[in-house]
Order: sequence, then structure tokens, then C-alpha cells
Amino acid sequence: MDLAAILARIGAEMAAAPDRGRVADYIPELARISTEPFAMAVCTAEGETFTTGAAETAFSIQSVSKLFTLAIALGRLGDQLWTRVGREPSGLAFNSILQLEHERGIPRNPFINAGAIVVTDAILAGHQPREVLGELLRFLREAAGEDDIHINKAVAASEQATGDRNLALAHFMRAQGNLLHDPVLTCGTYFHQCAIEMSTRQLARAGRFLMNAPTMPRMLAPGRVRRINALMMTCGHYDGSGDFAYRVGLPGKSGVGGGILVIAPGRASIAVWSPGLNDQGNSKLGTLAVERLARATGWSVF
Ligand code: DON
Repeated sequence: MDLAAILARIGAEMAAAPDRGRVADYIPELARISTEPFAMAVCTAEGETFTTGAAETAFSIQSVSKLFTLAIALGRLGDQLWTRVGREPSGLAFNSILQLEHERGIPRNPFINAGAIVVTDAILAGHQPREVLGELLRFLREAAGEDDIHINKAVAASEQATGDRNLALAHFMRAQGNLLHDPVLTCGTYFHQCAIEMSTRQLARAGRFLMNAPTMPRMLAPGRVRRINALMMTCGHYDGSGDFAYRVGLPGKSGVGGGILVIAPGRASIAVWSPGLNDQGNSKLGTLAVERLARATGWSVF
């Protein structure tokens, strides 16, 4: 299989795609980004890396960060985490508050905003926000095997300034006894985690531990890695998770910065970035590109 040629072809097709989606405009710093860039990077279990497009350009990983905080929380708390957050798809938008009132302030899963805020709140226990963010950056740098991964302070401030909806989720969960800290503290940490920037190539490298391949970095027990992949498949694209599973057939986690991390278990870690989003807040061309990659390679968990 000629992965370099497959990526080159997909890169050319995406560069020419007329309908590129719309950038997230509810975070002012992200609203300024163009829909032009496209990048894809594939790290294989054999240790090779293939890229196409702007794979060295740093972008805001946003909700893809939720994967890494979940990995830290599971490593630290184990299954105790599941008393505070569920493992079911929500079928609703990533920032929805609807289910919380009926479901005792326990978010459906760790990837919707409410669930990710609980995960961040859980790893804050006994620590300062600075320490949690330091641990997250260390985890990402170790997973990627690279140090040049940082938080964009302007993006974090922009999220903070327009973060009423996330603060509302946090206050509501606090009222129902499912938040340990002041919502401002937990959300402040969450906004900074979402504002982490890295390149498409770095993100593909950081995802290698989720491949469960013997040659790859081991950051968690294999059983936990399988479970994170299961959650990516069922909940990683919010109310677009079913469509992503149908079209791509691989677990993936998206972010409103236009990035998606996709895992072909035992075979590859794939990152894709294109800032224009579809109606569910997932990268439009990113989804199309991984759909084409999966078809060309035959990679699928089914
Ligand atoms: O909290 C938010 O709304 C953003 N920081 C992250 C949301 C996100 O990335 C949703 N993903 N597609």
C-alpha cells in the first residue's frame, strides 16, 4: 500500500473542494481563521509518518484535548470516574444543557462539554489549575515525543470572555452536587486545556498510544486504551457520532478548531485538520478526508 500516494491524492482533492464548511464563530479568536488550510498526518504501527498539506501549522485542538484529560483521569481515578459521568452518546449538541436536569447533573459522556468539565474538575482535586495544565502538557509532549506544544493564551482568554454557556453547565452541575470546585476555577482550567495548540503531525504522534500496538508509546493499560477508543466511536463526534462511524468506521475525536484524531487500532494514528465545520461542529473536509483514507486503505474496526 502506497500511503504517500494516497495522502497526496487526498490532499489534492481537499485543496480543490469547493464546500469547506464554516469556522466556529462563538469563540472570537477561532472566528478569524480561514477555511483554506487542510492537513493530514498518519503515523503507522511500523513507525513511519506520512503527511500532506499544512501538517506543521499549529492549530487549536479544542475538544480533542478531552481525550487526553480523560486518559489522565482514568489513569488516576480508574472506574470511580464513572460515578460522575456516563458512557452513552447524548444525541444532542456538544454544548447542550438539556439532559442534565433529568439526569441528576451527571453528563452523558466525557466528550460533551458538560462531561469534559466534570473530568477536568476530577483531575483538579488536590491540585492547582497550573499543575493540572502542566500535567496535561507533559502527557501530550511525552505521547508526541516532542516538546513544542503550548497553550495559546489569547484563545483561552477569548473562550473565557464568551464562556457563559460552559459556566452555566458547570454552575448547574455544582448545584446538583457534581462539581467539586468553583465553576470559575474548573472552567478556567477547561478553557486553557481547549486552547492547546499543536500541529497535525504532532497530534497524530500524540495519538499513537491509542493504537495499542506493541511498538508504540505506552501511556495507559491496554484495557483502558480499548475503552477510550470505544467512547471515541460512540461519542467522539457528539450528535454526529453515528454518521462518522457509518462513513469512516474508525474511532475519532473532533474539536471545533477543525482537528480530528482518528485511530485505526493496531495500524495507525491519524490526525486531520481543516477549520471549516459541519452542522454538528465537526470538521467538514476532515471527515471527508478520513472517509477517503479509510476507503483507500481498507482500515476499519468492522
Ligand atoms: O467549550 C467549548 O465549546 C470549546 N472549547 C470546545 C468545544 C469543541 O471543540 C466541540 N467540538 N467539536
